[in-house]
Amino acid sequence: MDGRFVRADGETIRRRRQELFWTQEQLAEKAGLRKRTIERAEAGEHLQSHTIRAIAQALGLSPAEVTLPGRSSTPGGARASPDPEAAGALKALTASRPPTLPVSVTSFIGRTRELAEVKQRLSATRLLTLTGPGGCGKTRLALQAATDLADKFVDGVWFVELSTLSDPRLVPYLVATALGVREEPNRPLAVTLVDALHPRRLLLVLDSCEHLIAACAEFSHTLLHGCPQLRILATRREVLGVAGELAWRVPPLASPDPQRLLSIEDLVQYEAVQLFVERARTALLTFTLTNRNASVVAQVCYRLDGIPLAIELAAARVKVLAVEQIAARLDDRFHLLTGGGRMVLPRQQTLQAAMDWSYDLLSEPERRLWHRLSVFAGGWTLEAAEAVCAGVGFDVADVLDRLTSLVDKSLVNVEAPDGEARYRLLETIRQYGLKKLERSGQAAVVRRQHLQWFVGLAERAEAELTGPDQGIWLERLETEYDNLWAVLEWSQTEAQGAEAGLRLAAALWRFWLVHGHLREGRRWLEAVLAGSRVAWVAARAKALYGAGALAEDQGD
Ligand SMILES: Nc1ncnc2c1ncn2[C@@H]1O[C@H](COP(=O)(O)OP(=O)(O)OP(=O)(O)O)[C@@H](O)[C@H]1O
Ligand SMILES: [Mg+2]
Repeated sequence: MDGRFVRADGETIRRRRQELFWTQEQLAEKAGLRKRTIERAEAGEHLQSHTIRAIAQALGLSPAEVTLPGRSSTPGGARASPDPEAAGALKALTASRPPTLPVSVTSFIGRTRELAEVKQRLSATRLLTLTGPGGCGKTRLALQAATDLADKFVDGVWFVELSTLSDPRLVPYLVATALGVREEPNRPLAVTLVDALHPRRLLLVLDSCEHLIAACAEFSHTLLHGCPQLRILATRREVLGVAGELAWRVPPLASPDPQRLLSIEDLVQYEAVQLFVERARTALLTFTLTNRNASVVAQVCYRLDGIPLAIELAAARVKVLAVEQIAARLDDRFHLLTGGGRMVLPRQQTLQAAMDWSYDLLSEPERRLWHRLSVFAGGWTLEAAEAVCAGVGFDVADVLDRLTSLVDKSLVNVEAPDGEARYRLLETIRQYGLKKLERSGQAAVVRRQHLQWFVGLAERAEAELTGPDQGIWLERLETEYDNLWAVLEWSQTEAQGAEAGLRLAAALWRFWLVHGHLREGRRWLEAVLAGSRVAWVAARAKALYGAGALAEDQGD
């Protein structure tokens, strides 16, 4: 079975490991593999034969004993009964994987009433949608509610971020990927998902559905119809009536009325003030509320309508501006917008004003970097930022410094799950940057650099996917999947991107095969081949070979 991918018998591997009283880490160490690879094996994924051999050896079994025969094909057609294989894969996965909720690095403030409300509503309805304008705290509230509810859902709470997805047909793919459910030949993926989730009690969080409203509604409806114990918590900026859906508007954080004279003790009872103080302290360790600044902080929070994102942007500035200066500058901006009157702005406009304000305070290179970083979908590493954002008007040596200052200003979030830092823009901030990038005339250049970087990454990964570091590279591709996807989409719309798109898809076929994204892989390969030229011999040959391998695995 050398050089081939075979399907791990997840149940056996886990049972044997538990008999030996080993953790997944211990088995990984003994087999010379990463823990993630063991998780994959226990989830019943396809792995390279030498990986399976290493696991078998460590467990004192033969490779055949830890391999499932054949492929996971089920002849197509209607759903007769829950498919035990799909359900089995999910069971193994939910048993072996830690909760899949993203971990927030910043503290969560207040929202006691809102959390109770969400939980209560979610016990009465199976599809609850949190709505509200950008930055009002929908995602954060959904995440906190899901974390609190984890005990109630024995099969787990699952978080799927949809903001970077642009093709509505791909919603089921993203959900299946998150849940580790493999696509099956000749069957709609939604049907396989229903079969896998049918007996399960789980909560699915679908975050940022605004641009995929119809697709999300239809998909949610299918899932809920077929899975009686499933609940869905969605977030989106707009409200749309979907049968059986209960939409609930996330209110702003409670903020004090600046007309009332309140003591510091009273003021800190307000969530908006708490958030301001917390974030101000992150920026400036010594920041405290004093008799002098307390009423000004209250005024800023009130001015910003208690919108968490706007408050974070303002608070991040306390390092260089006194609270009074922040308040005065914001006031100027609001006067401008309301023609000097005391008119109240709609919340979207308040946030827009807070972002404009924050933007205007940046240096030109910082702005330029913000624009360019917006091409990334789903985050980036420093190395990628250096390759993609440097160029005309921006030196590669400056990327780290400018990036650090955007982090300091709360415009870029940083996370470091496995040691290597990864950066990300909140969606509202990314969209703001994208608009500016289009206007700057640099969009095409930056997108091309983005494309080149990820084609390079996929080609490097391709060579590694058959070697000992397979696990590391699969993980890397998975982490960058939103970017890879964005590049594939862009390459299809740009005349100059066709060859790079072909190279990218040709480099990714094995990744699609291992993950069981057979139809999705074939769809991409067929699309790039259709737009290719005969002269691109090597890439075409590889893409054709990959499409053949995926078709074979699909039983075609
Ligand atoms: N209760 C809270 N405690 C601490 N921080 C919060 C809270 N609510 C929101 N935030 C912070 O405010 C910012 C915006 O929140 P969030 O991303 O949840 O907004 P959103 O409504 O989902 O926005 P979008 O529509 O752009 O997706 C984030 O940085 C988030 O961490
Ligand atoms: Mg959100």
